[in-house]
Amino acid sequence: KKVVLAYSGGLDTSIILKWLQTTYGCEVVTFTADLGQGEELEPARQKALLLGIKPENIFIEDLREEFVRDYVFPMFRANAQYEGWYLLGTSIARPLIAKKQIEIAEKVGADAVAHGATGKGNDQVRFELSYYALKPDVTVIAPWREWDLTSRTKLLEFAEQNQIPIAKDKRGEAPFSVDANLLHSSSEGKVLEDPAQEVPDYVYSRTIDPEAAPDKPTYITIDFEKGDPVAIDGVRMSPATLLAKLNELGRANGIGRLDLVENRFVGMKSRGMYETPGGTILLVAHRGIESITLDRGAAHLKDELMPKYAELIYNGFWFSPEREMLQALIDKSQEFVTGQVRLKLYKGGVHLVGRESPYSLYDQELVTFEEGAVAYDHRDAAGFIKLNALRLRTLAQRKRKLGL
Ligand code: ARG
Ligand code: SIN
Repeated sequence: KKVVLAYSGGLDTSIILKWLQTTYGCEVVTFTADLGQGEELEPARQKALLLGIKPENIFIEDLREEFVRDYVFPMFRANAQYEGWYLLGTSIARPLIAKKQIEIAEKVGADAVAHGATGKGNDQVRFELSYYALKPDVTVIAPWREWDLTSRTKLLEFAEQNQIPIAKDKRGEAPFSVDANLLHSSSEGKVLEDPAQEVPDYVYSRTIDPEAAPDKPTYITIDFEKGDPVAIDGVRMSPATLLAKLNELGRANGIGRLDLVENRFVGMKSRGMYETPGGTILLVAHRGIESITLDRGAAHLKDELMPKYAELIYNGFWFSPEREMLQALIDKSQEFVTGQVRLKLYKGGVHLVGRESPYSLYDQELVTFEEGAVAYDHRDAAGFIKLNALRLRTLAQRKRKLGL
């Protein structure tokens, strides 16, 4: 039996690795992805070797470009936000990791996959729905739901018995749990569990405090083509490079901090802190370019569908026909979402200060308060209002008749 494990190289997934070898007696294949979490990948290889994984069973891939190009940017075309705020940084990474695991499973002839998400969260759902959508007969192993290593002490004991190196700072309980990639960093649990208490300063890792941000604003331009950002300040960049650059700008200006209580798919509320510096800038910029290039009907329809689309991603249904149908609609809407926006970044704020496009629908001639264009006749407005008022007048008359 062979199993492909999503392996970070950290203590928890190392324990999972050993547990799979000892409890399941299976041959473990590790998969470590660079999604821009900001950690070296070589140590993960060394650690896997140390734990007895054969060199040909260690897979390490740089997925940064694919992640941003095929997952993050398509999602931003929709301006997706879960429950009004969350930019879905963790949610959008899971389907890609799962897809790669399945590809590796097919390649090495493994019939099982395993992940390190707990039995209480969203991530287990996202990983597993993706696995099943791509390989219907796959065996899924979720150690956190199966083993009896139910306390920190038991986990550390198991690690020691199995010669798993434990970093000094990992002896105690981590003060909170982190998930990071190029789009965001998310912190949950422990010191963050009481939603009445403000997030302590030391939890923030990729933004400076807005209060400490420069007193002078930073102005930038972002160019879009068909709904995707392609250049910052006129310099064209690959998707991952561009998002990394926006992260830098966001970090320096204290942009993209979010303290949120959200509803998990599995039913409970959870409190988390997110830092999405680049994504927060990108959302404002994208809405800005859409504001002049999208027709009202198109804009309003995609905004109505957005919460549904965001919920599908949050709940783990990236590989579902309904997500793909909505994606087709969203992508179609982006045909003319091309042009440039100008932004002012200042002490945690992202302000849209200019937008232009060769496909702009904004007609100064039409909207001006000065002597206007021929396409619009003031006299048409009188009839337009009267017909729209007809029902309202009828209702008012009934109210009056009934003395209400
Ligand atoms: N609540 C977020 C989500 O469901 C993040 C979950 C992972 N974060 C973590 N710190 N372990 O997408
Ligand atoms: C986990 O449970 O592994 C992290 C939190 C979540 O998935 O919601």
